[in-house]
Amino acid sequence: MPSYSALAASDPAVHAALMGEMKRQAEGVELIASENYISPAVLETMGTVFNNKYSEGYPGRRYYGGQEFTDQVETLAIDRAKQLFRAGHANVQPHAGCPANIAMYFALLEPGDTVMGMDLSHGGHLSHGHPVTYITKIFKFIRYGMKDIETGEIDYDAMRETALKERPKIILAGFSAYPREVNYAKMKAIAEEVGAYTVADMAHIAGMIVGGVLRNPFDDRFDVITTTTHKTLRGPRGGMILCREADLGKKIDKSVFPGFQGGPIMQMIAAKAVAFGEALKPEFKQYAAQIVKNSKHLAGYLMNKGAKLITNGTDNHLMLVDCVTSWGIPGGDVEVTLDKVGITLNKNMIPNDQRKPMDPSGVRLGTPAITTRGMKEKDMETLADFILKAIEKRSDEAALQSIHHDVIAWCKKFPVPGIPAS
Ligand SMILES: Cc1ncc(COP(=O)(O)O)c(C=O)c1O
Repeated sequence: MPSYSALAASDPAVHAALMGEMKRQAEGVELIASENYISPAVLETMGTVFNNKYSEGYPGRRYYGGQEFTDQVETLAIDRAKQLFRAGHANVQPHAGCPANIAMYFALLEPGDTVMGMDLSHGGHLSHGHPVTYITKIFKFIRYGMKDIETGEIDYDAMRETALKERPKIILAGFSAYPREVNYAKMKAIAEEVGAYTVADMAHIAGMIVGGVLRNPFDDRFDVITTTTHKTLRGPRGGMILCREADLGKKIDKSVFPGFQGGPIMQMIAAKAVAFGEALKPEFKQYAAQIVKNSKHLAGYLMNKGAKLITNGTDNHLMLVDCVTSWGIPGGDVEVTLDKVGITLNKNMIPNDQRKPMDPSGVRLGTPAITTRGMKEKDMETLADFILKAIEKRSDEAALQSIHHDVIAWCKKFPVPGIPAS
């Protein structure tokens, strides 16, 4: 584990902030569904001299010399990514999930073309055409959503009807706040009828797909997968684009570089290779399965205690709680209350929310990070009890302090990888 002694000597202010963040992570419970803890090996690789190298281009086809070792790590990352997802092509250079999506749009579309994605209030992501993003100045975005928010089933009939009328060039699956499994085969059939590409943004669930717990969209002949590498895949912050067939790869590669990005961030690509190597090991399958077991158990336990979950449960790593219906308070109040006891989650809009995005009705919580720490089903009950007690005692600062104390003591049983025990 790094000692950070060079940092302490050179920049005490940044060192102090880092020590504070390490303590916060070690002593708190991380329930933000898009976060995780990387392994010491991934962490180490991110802070290496691969940072110093400019490597515009792709392995064997670079614009600068001195690429013997950068080519080795990028090729390892590509080969492992293809193996993990059973893909024909992988581009591991996108700096993050949004850049991966933008490069994908420009690879497959002409300006003015239409993309059909999940309604943002039903769980879709900003980069799927939220009006505040620049990409909506270039492409047109139309929506599909759930037929019934009690079950979470997507309205595939309405999707087909809209697709026949609007003729989208991409049908986009994927979400950041949807707790159910998607029927990719139905989406593929609609896409074939209208001649659209099928793309799955698997940023949130990539780890469960490679772990075999959730369905791989390539098995239903989706054309492209975009993803982040830092969520359930448990890699460095970054993005990636995969194609089922190698043919589409040329378009994707040209779009990422030189179309959109400059030099790849080579220490992150090296760290992606390490993370993908970890995800290929049998232990990762157990990890992915445990994420979902924990999530289902936590969801069931909370519902038994009276919480109202959107879609009444979960198939994946996350759940959305309607806080107004459950406890008579908005999501923001739950977020602030739980922060006081060292439990971190985020307020979130719920489908057809009557409240505003900065003051929504719900919270989103997920189990990828706590599962990395080694928590199991029984621990979900302890955690839910902390959450429910804190909400009940939210006006009693002394009670909250006492719960916080107990949370810190409990967290010490579950070390965070990469952070020495204090
Ligand atoms: C579905 C989805 N796509 C894309 C992204 C964007 O990823 P990044 O924050 O790395 O740009 C996210 C991030 O939360 C996401 O949930």
